[in-house]
Amino acid sequence: MKNFIQKLPKAELHLHIEGTLEPELMFALAKKNSIQIPYKSVQELKQAYNFSSLQSFLDIYYAGANVLIHESDFFDLTWEYLLTCKEQNILHVEIFFDPQTHTKRGIAFGTVITGITKALEKAKEELGISSYLIMCFLRHLSEEEAFETLKLSLPFKAQILGVGLDSSEVGHPPSKFKNVFQACQKEGYKIVAHAGEEGDSSYIWEAIELLHVQRIDHGIRCEEDAHLVEFLKEKQIPLTVCPLSNVKLRAVSTMQEHNILKLLHKGLLVTVNSDDPAYFGGYLNENYLALTQALHINKEELKKLATNSFKASFLPQERKESFYKMIENIH
Ligand code: ADE
Ligand code: ZN
Repeated sequence: MKNFIQKLPKAELHLHIEGTLEPELMFALAKKNSIQIPYKSVQELKQAYNFSSLQSFLDIYYAGANVLIHESDFFDLTWEYLLTCKEQNILHVEIFFDPQTHTKRGIAFGTVITGITKALEKAKEELGISSYLIMCFLRHLSEEEAFETLKLSLPFKAQILGVGLDSSEVGHPPSKFKNVFQACQKEGYKIVAHAGEEGDSSYIWEAIELLHVQRIDHGIRCEEDAHLVEFLKEKQIPLTVCPLSNVKLRAVSTMQEHNILKLLHKGLLVTVNSDDPAYFGGYLNENYLALTQALHINKEELKKLATNSFKASFLPQERKESFYKMIENIH
């Protein structure tokens, strides 16, 4: 099955570029940029990756991002991830970045996006990997700060396909950002949002009804509401599910209890993704493999999940169909 997963062409739709910062690169950048990190070694840092909740992870994730200062740091971070995509036969990526994590520290929006974009362009040319970029607003900050970020993004609109919403979910419902998402929609940005990771199913309804999302990131708590499950199925609103993340952050107790296969069988458009792979013990293929082992997923189901990853993407229809055909021919 490992070999079969490797061979499958796949798209990644839920990936925070700051969450691909491997401990080795974090230490190297900390040294280069003279930034203090509160861990003595890579081993000590890895031992801290024992999370009890989303917030316990976010505290370490934001501290880690402090080592990213120069355009070349954002380039190196992104390029390293794209080389992993090549190794894992990931042919298309829709990458999140958190501009406020950097602008709050005095790093210019342009520094962040230029470094990331240069790596994405190089990957398109040299690795044949296509990509889109999605900027996320941090939901623990105010809507006013999200508006400031929207304004900063406008000179770089050609490089940004959409906007999302991430960070601490509970207590920061989508309704808090209704006005700024309306403004984003007017600018022509695609809309996605994290909802139903730790927050309950009402967060998913709000993301749909108030933010007008085209995709839900996570969404696993939809199961609490049969009417919502039916709605997601009927409208085929994609859920970008992140299995290793859900277990690591204890949104789900064990991989055996993960509901992704159940949702797939009910006819929902679910996809497999890695979220923050440097922190959660695996990239995309490791997520597929962990699910396969825990839930006894068969080859047809794996093909369906890989097909869904393209179906739920923002790629043009013609390119989606060429990927469906590639997947049909994998045995
Ligand atoms: N930022 C990075 N990873 C995240 C996640 N899983 N949920 C919310 N915000 C995040
Ligand atoms: Zn996420």
